[in-house]
Formats: sequence, C-alpha cells, structure tokens
Amino acid sequence: MIGDWIDVGPLADIPPRGARTVPVEGGEEIAVFRTGDDAVYALVNRCPHKQGPLSQGIVHGHAVACPLHNWRISLSTGEALGEDEGCVPIIPARVDAGRVLLSRVGALAAALVG
Ligand code: FES
Repeated sequence: MIGDWIDVGPLADIPPRGARTVPVEGGEEIAVFRTGDDAVYALVNRCPHKQGPLSQGIVHGHAVACPLHNWRISLSTGEALGEDEGCVPIIPARVDAGRVLLSRVGALAAALVG
C-alpha cells in the first residue's frame, strides 16, 4: 500500500556516497544514505558510540564512518563493524521511480523508540 511508505524526495537530491537527513516530529532525525552503487539505507542519525551524526560521515561501500571517532557502521544492519560494539536502529528504505521511500512504520518505530 502506498500509504505504508513515506516519500522523502528524489534520489538525485542525495549525493552518491552521501546522505541527507529527515526530521521526525517528536522523534529522532533519520539519516538517509546513498551508496556509490545507488542503494539507499536509512538509519537513526545517531552513532551507537557517542551519538555522532552519522549523516556527516563518509560512506565506504555499504558502511559509513562516523565523523567523530571513525567507527564504521553497517548501513544494512546498523551494527558497528570490526572490534566496536553497538547498533543503531535501521528503517526499511527503497527507491521507486527515482523517489526515495521509507517504511512509515519502520521510521516511526526507529525514531521514537530508538
Ligand atoms: S560517536 Fe561515532 S565513533 Fe564515536
């Protein structure tokens, strides 16, 4: 159902290997990432280490390096990679006809509970 997905704008608005943020009323900001191969992922914009803004990190493959202390976070699972431990909530995301869509239920659950 179309109402189950929130249209957050064109894929073209997100630079390759970059991100943009989506505010959630009453909840935590969501970071939407675009990888070099045009996959999209959405995570709560808060590093599991010390709340660094992941949207300002650098995307390598399907992971992002936190801008504060360089932890690498998997975009597909939200988990810290390597020896670091922690996890940030993810939100199901997809691209349809050049538009980025986020799961409405996933976005609310992640941003309000996460
Ligand atoms: S806050 Fe992200 S690595 Fe420290």
